Amino acid sequence: MDVAPGIRHHPRTRPTESSPETQDPAIMDAFVIRGGKPLKGRVQISGAKNAALPVMAATLLSPGVHTLRNVPVLRDTITMGEVLQKLGARVELGPRLCKIDTTNITSVEAPYDLVRTMRASIYVLGPLLARFGNARVSLPGGCAWGPRPVNLHLEGLKAMGAALEIEHGYIVGREVKLKGTNFNFDVVSVGATAQLMMAAVLANGRTVLDNVALEPDITVLGEVLNRCGANISGLGTRRLVIEGVRELQPIDTTIIPDRIEAQTFLAAAAVTGGSITLESCDPSDMLSAIQKLEEAGCQILPGTNEVTITGPRRPYAVDVTTAPFPGFPTDMQAQMMALCSVAEGTSVITDTIYLDRFTHVPELARLGARIELKGNTAVVKGVERLSGAPVMATDIRASAALVIAALVAEGETRISRIYHLDRGYEGLDQKLVKLGASVERIRE
Ligand code: EPZ
Repeated sequence: MDVAPGIRHHPRTRPTESSPETQDPAIMDAFVIRGGKPLKGRVQISGAKNAALPVMAATLLSPGVHTLRNVPVLRDTITMGEVLQKLGARVELGPRLCKIDTTNITSVEAPYDLVRTMRASIYVLGPLLARFGNARVSLPGGCAWGPRPVNLHLEGLKAMGAALEIEHGYIVGREVKLKGTNFNFDVVSVGATAQLMMAAVLANGRTVLDNVALEPDITVLGEVLNRCGANISGLGTRRLVIEGVRELQPIDTTIIPDRIEAQTFLAAAAVTGGSITLESCDPSDMLSAIQKLEEAGCQILPGTNEVTITGPRRPYAVDVTTAPFPGFPTDMQAQMMALCSVAEGTSVITDTIYLDRFTHVPELARLGARIELKGNTAVVKGVERLSGAPVMATDIRASAALVIAALVAEGETRISRIYHLDRGYEGLDQKLVKLGASVERIRE
């Protein structure tokens, strides 16, 4: 796979989603952060990882050269590129342009070695079955904070007539002819909605999906597919109606801004009492977080494709309960907890999407946070100040929370295993330094 010059890419060495060291030297990278500097200035928000990944997989639905602009160059998009490459696609991933040629797909196998490093690799399953009727995709396995089943992906595809077997850790489908069906999701799932949407666009007949996810990543995936000739109606509602078509045209699109990266920067500005402007972001995709940050005492000025935030001297405590979009995102739960750890008062944070997504709690406690866990709820007693210490990143958003806490902690914090951050944030250290923070990437 061609990755633009200077882009880190180590094809042979790969961590699993949760396992640590391998031979990839970047795995030993750590951040050294000296806290206490209010963030100031403007920062450009990158393209959205969680919007780019399904669109990259959707290129398998039609032969040809697909053009994707604003794909963030991250460990995860590189991994998706490698999965597509394993299938026979030609992938060029650069800072502004990603070209994917799916004319000559020579394999339908997505290997365990790649899938275990990124669950979203499972997105190739539906497109492979839809276009070729065959697929052999490794089951993803667990992640840092527990089991993340894919039963809805499999049940939905089976409802569309796919006889799927689990063989040696692989999901295997042979000579499958997908047909339209009615399927209701027991729980709202971003991944399973995307999976069935991609499978249904080439299926024989009409598919009706109920209780679907409303995340912007899903809506734009549907819009991209419709521009390629698909027939999806109901985007932005909990019911999608998809009329299968015979073929699609290649994709030509620009990936939307990353609302989770944007919200992470808002929380970083809030906790440091800084004032920053985010460029190339969509305020309407982050209303629930903006509301919570205003409750915490921030002044927020949404503009066209930009947001300006000014943080308070010290944030107020806020209660947060995560929910599917447009509710408060679980991908911001940890970052918000870091902010609440220095707030005035006690905050109650409940995660209803992942009941055990709290691997950041013991690490925040190492910095002096006072957090008590009760089931899927954390009671956070705000403290006057945190103090720097060595801590360990465990997953993408947990590590972002440690960065936010370190930006306000006294003295030096050293965050190791930041390869987790590199999976979801493009050039986070450079962007923070540009905003006046003291962040150094070192090799441990
Ligand atoms: C997507 O994961 C995101 N990942 C996650 O972001 C995000 O946390 C999650 O949606 C929720 O917003 C990508 O888009 C690549 P789900 P996904 O299916 O699709 C249960 C990040 O940090 N469920 O919406 O895997 C599941 O256990 C990542 O960028 C089933 O029970 O999440 C969870 O409780 C982390 N069976 C709930 O649904 C299934 O088959 C929502 O999961 C599928 C899901």
